[in-house]
Amino acid sequence: MHHFQYRGDDLYCEEVPVARIASEVGTPVYIYSHATLTRHFRVFDEAFAGVLHLVCFAMKANANLAVLKLFSDLGGGLDVVSGGELFRGLKTGVPPQRIVYAGVGKSREEIAYALKSDILMFNVESGQELRLIHEVASGMGVRARVALRVNPDVDPKTHPYISTGLKKSKFGFDIGHALEEYEAARALPSLDVVGIHHHIGSQITEIRPFVDALEKTAALVRTLRERGTEIRYLDVGGGLGITYKDEEPPLPAEFARALIGVIRDLDVTIVLEPGRVLVGNAGILVTRVLYTKQTPARNFVVVDAGMNDLARPSLYGSYHAIQTVRQVSGRPEMTVDVVGPICESGDFLAKDRGLPRCEPGELLAVMSAGAYGHTMSSNYNARPRAPEVMVRGNRYHVVRERETFEDLVRGERTLDELG
Ligand SMILES: Cc1ncc(COP(=O)(O)O)c(C=O)c1O
Repeated sequence: MHHFQYRGDDLYCEEVPVARIASEVGTPVYIYSHATLTRHFRVFDEAFAGVLHLVCFAMKANANLAVLKLFSDLGGGLDVVSGGELFRGLKTGVPPQRIVYAGVGKSREEIAYALKSDILMFNVESGQELRLIHEVASGMGVRARVALRVNPDVDPKTHPYISTGLKKSKFGFDIGHALEEYEAARALPSLDVVGIHHHIGSQITEIRPFVDALEKTAALVRTLRERGTEIRYLDVGGGLGITYKDEEPPLPAEFARALIGVIRDLDVTIVLEPGRVLVGNAGILVTRVLYTKQTPARNFVVVDAGMNDLARPSLYGSYHAIQTVRQVSGRPEMTVDVVGPICESGDFLAKDRGLPRCEPGELLAVMSAGAYGHTMSSNYNARPRAPEVMVRGNRYHVVRERETFEDLVRGERTLDELG
C-alpha cells in the first residue's frame, strides 16, 4: 500500500500533485511519501510485537536524513556499512545503542569511530577483522560487542548480484567453521561476544529461504549455548522483497510469524535489517520527457533522468513501472525504450515497455524508486544529483537540494592552482 494515486487524471503523492513538485523543484526529482514510510515501518515493527526485537533500517537503501529521522522517531535503529553511514545516522540523532555495523571491509579508522560512538554491535565478517576490532578496542581501553556474521549457504532465489548467503559469496564466516571462530573470538579479551548475524540476500519473495537460513543459525545458537557462549542478539538481516511488477512477496505479518516460529524458545532479541521493504514503494523518481525518437529498429523516449540517477535497471536489469503523471485518454499505446541522457547504451530506465504515446515536456513517474535509488546515484557525465522531496499531507519539503555545478568541482584543484 502506498500513497501515490491518481485523482482524476493527475498523479498525487498524498495530497500534493506530483506535477506541482516537478514544476517548482525541477526534474529529475525523487519524491517520498511520509505516510507510506510511516505505515511501512509500523506494519513491519508491529509484526514482531510479540517478541523482543529491534528494527535496524538498512540505510544503504535510502540514507536521506529525513527518512532516518522518521524511522528513528518511530523507535527504529540502523544497519550501517561504513563510517559515512554511521556519521549520517548519528547526525540524525539515532541512538548508538540501536546501531549495528556490517560489511566485509571495515577499516581501522571506521572501527575506532564505531567504538568511540558505542554502537550496539559489530557484525563481523572475517577472522582478521575480529582481531583488528580486538586490537583497536584494547588500544582504546574499551570492550567491543560483536556478533559473527555466518554464511548459512542458502539460495535466496533472487538476482545473483544481491544473493549474499551462498557458500561462494564474500560475506560472513562459513557456517561449518563458525564454532571454531566463536572460540577464537571468546579468547580475545577486548571482545564481548553477544550475537550472531546472517543476511542471505535482497528482494526475496518467498518465505522458505528465510526459514531455512534461520533454522541453521538457530541450531548454531543452541550449540554455542551448550558450549558456554551466551548469544543475546540474533540478527536475521534484511531481504524481504516488494512488488515492482507482479511479485507477491510475503506480508510482514507472515514473514514475522514464520521467523518467530523458529526462534520462539531461544530467548534472544531478534534484530531485523529491512531496507527495501520499508522504503521501496514509498518513493518515486519523476522525470521529464526531452525528446521522442523513432529509428527503423526502435522507439525511444529520451528523458532527463539517467542511469546516474537510478542505476537499478542498468545494473540488474530491474523492472520499474513507469506511469505518465497526467493521464490523457485516447492516446495510442506504443512499445518504447525509456532512455536517459548518459553516453552509454546501458543507460535505460525501461526496455520494450508499453506506454501511451509521450510528448516532449511531459512528466513520467518511475515507480518503486525509494530503495537503492538516490543512494546508488552518481555524478557520472558530470550530472548533479537529483533533489529529494518528502511529502507530508498537503505540503512538500525539499529534504535534499539538487546539487549545483559548483558542487561537482568542490575540493578539486588543478596543478596550476596548487603552484
Ligand atoms: C547486511 C545487510 N542487511 C540488510 C540489507 C538490506 O536488504 P533489503 O534492502 O533487501 O532489506 C542488506 C542489503 O544488501 C545487507 O547487506
